[in-house]
Amino acid sequence: MVKAVVLGASGGIGQPLSLLLKANPSVTQLGLYDIVNTPGVAADLSHISTPAKVQGFLPADNGLEKVLTGAELVVIPAGIPRKPGMTRDDLFKINAGICRDLAAGVAKYAPKAFVLVISNPVNSTVPIVSEILKQHGVYDPKRIFGVTTLDVVRASTFVAEKLGDLSLSKEVVVPVVGGHSGVTIVPLLSQSSHPLPDGDHSELINRIQFGGDEVVKAKDGAGSATLSMAYAGAEFANAIIRGAFGEEKGIIVPTFVNLAADASGGEALKKELGADLDFFSARVEIGKGGVEKIHGLGKVTEAEKELVAKAVIDLKTNIDTGVQFVKGGK
Ligand code: NAD
Ligand code: LMR
Repeated sequence: MVKAVVLGASGGIGQPLSLLLKANPSVTQLGLYDIVNTPGVAADLSHISTPAKVQGFLPADNGLEKVLTGAELVVIPAGIPRKPGMTRDDLFKINAGICRDLAAGVAKYAPKAFVLVISNPVNSTVPIVSEILKQHGVYDPKRIFGVTTLDVVRASTFVAEKLGDLSLSKEVVVPVVGGHSGVTIVPLLSQSSHPLPDGDHSELINRIQFGGDEVVKAKDGAGSATLSMAYAGAEFANAIIRGAFGEEKGIIVPTFVNLAADASGGEALKKELGADLDFFSARVEIGKGGVEKIHGLGKVTEAEKELVAKAVIDLKTNIDTGVQFVKGGK
């Protein structure tokens, strides 16, 4: 029985994600916030015969305060998407400010909520949200997550395709670690639940790392992944709902978190990475308080070690850019 809120609910991701949350029987209240169109989206969703009571808010009349009050799970897909030729970092200028302002709202009105950040560039927006919560004295790294589930969903789909049986895609599990952009996305194919035949898998790895570009190119200026992201976001939200609000144990999902969220697991992972990174997308066990355990990389091949080493270099810069945005008061 969860009050979930979507910030950026009228957008390409926001609408189908709100639909999927409305369809989740564990969600009993659904708050929608955007700078446009939420009354209409809320009225539309409210006719669906599922338990969640839906309400839409705009910035006027303290909408952010109203939507966030009592929120337990806040999903943030607010922000501009890419067009062909752009990198996710090109979104930083606009999305950093959006995430900063929404995080300030979370800090004031829903300081205990679980926060799921979708807005890109995730490698930087998660540090921004975290720094803002710190400034307000309400930061708990166990409850702040960067949503990298789309990379996991793509890995399952593309591996199943490669195995010649798309019906396997729901069963195929491939851990994807690192971050959420280009070379920071590291699929650990050697740990796939459904092993691939021996051989060179660099094309498949590249497709998982740059799957976002495939959609941006196909949409030809109309945005980036929205429907697959809504599916992935709803899957991740449901994992949090089951692990943190339900009675289920042993729910493990890859997500971009502060490694301080589990001091011993985080330190062990840093040793494996050979780097003092604050954030990394690892396989994380979800419990009542949020992050319960951060898992290590597990057994990886030499080639995967090299991919991780490359990811770490970009991640350091991306994380620092986010932190400095807040600390420098930009
Ligand atoms: P979109 O433009 O369709 O929707 C964004 C919505 O955010 C719009 O409705 C807009 O009005 C709203 N918005 C803007 N400023 C706001 C504010 N201050 N407060 C509340 N709402 C605000 O974009 P989209 O396709 O839905 O993508 C949203 C973001 O998600 C982008 O940054 C995109 O890059 C990112 N994304 C992330 C992943 C991931 O895997 N994490 C996947 C796909 C897209
Ligand atoms: C994705 O992976 O599809 C998203 O991060 C959107 C993008 O810009 O590619």
